[in-house]
Amino acid sequence: MPSDHSLNFRTRPRRLRRTPALRDLVRETQLSAHDLIWPVFLCDGEAVEEPVPSMPGVVRRSVDRLVPAAQEAADLGIPAICLFPYTDPALKTELCEEAWNPENLTNRGIRALKAAVPGLAVMTDIALDPYNANGHDGIVRDGHVVNDETVAALVRMAMAQAEAGADILGPSDMMDGRIGAIRDALEDADHCDVTIMSYSAKYASGFYGPFRDAVGASGALKGDKKTYQMDPANRAEALRMISRDLDEGADMVMVKPGLAYLDICREVKDTFGAPTYAYQVSGEYAMIEAAAAQGWIDGEAVMMETLRAFKRAGCDGVLSYYAPRAARLLKA
Ligand code: PBG
Repeated sequence: MPSDHSLNFRTRPRRLRRTPALRDLVRETQLSAHDLIWPVFLCDGEAVEEPVPSMPGVVRRSVDRLVPAAQEAADLGIPAICLFPYTDPALKTELCEEAWNPENLTNRGIRALKAAVPGLAVMTDIALDPYNANGHDGIVRDGHVVNDETVAALVRMAMAQAEAGADILGPSDMMDGRIGAIRDALEDADHCDVTIMSYSAKYASGFYGPFRDAVGASGALKGDKKTYQMDPANRAEALRMISRDLDEGADMVMVKPGLAYLDICREVKDTFGAPTYAYQVSGEYAMIEAAAAQGWIDGEAVMMETLRAFKRAGCDGVLSYYAPRAARLLKA
């Protein structure tokens, strides 16, 4: 018998939210371990796992410790790992020569991974900041980050990574013309199968702070990166950057940071249909971890909610420091 309060609705969306089975059945987007790329920090030495204070739960690993961690990631179904080096300050120079040293930390890491975990895709970062005495992504002359000389250096860096066996090159420097220059050099050197994921729409963001601590670039950086990274106020410009990088030979494109730029992710996917990724950057990770540590939010719930948000916004995948933690939960 209907109670006095019952009304005769035909449409009751809550019917489909009533049980986990019904919710599973109507869920519009799926998150899986295959959607995740795990960024990791490398350091010199042996048996080193050194915490990054501004990123609780994240460590810098020596190459010997990278290998088992990567194996675990691969076993969890994570398809790719992305390497970022913490470079000895003594190796940082104005011309960033360490960036294309075949024996630098990243290139040693690539070779170790391709030997031990060949099925895992290895992605790199292409930008000069870890090797630069002044912390910028490009070469600085008279206080200005010079474009074309930087592109030539980035090409050398890219070629050393390709030689070491990298599967995905990730130019994150935001110089003009670098995708085309790297692509041409790869083709000329018979590296035509090496893929490029361009950090195409990379904004000059306050969210990168903890990363700069992790790679040891914070102290070195003079000024900001606004003459090459994008203005957070811009949307149409992001679409032009994506279009340009696809034309120049990028296979995949990225929007960075993530959560504050989901509108850009959606528009990029809808406009170009290309493989589209977002980077849930260090500051996003740090904010969640800090609030969770205070007991102000449920960190695990927010981790999964944010990762799902990227899929909902149209991304094919997400670079996230949470990759192994999320993959473990998804497997459980
Ligand atoms: C280097 C680079 C940065 C990040 C990835 N590659 C920092 C920057 O541009 O200053 C940020 C990643 C993160 O914050 O997690 N060019």
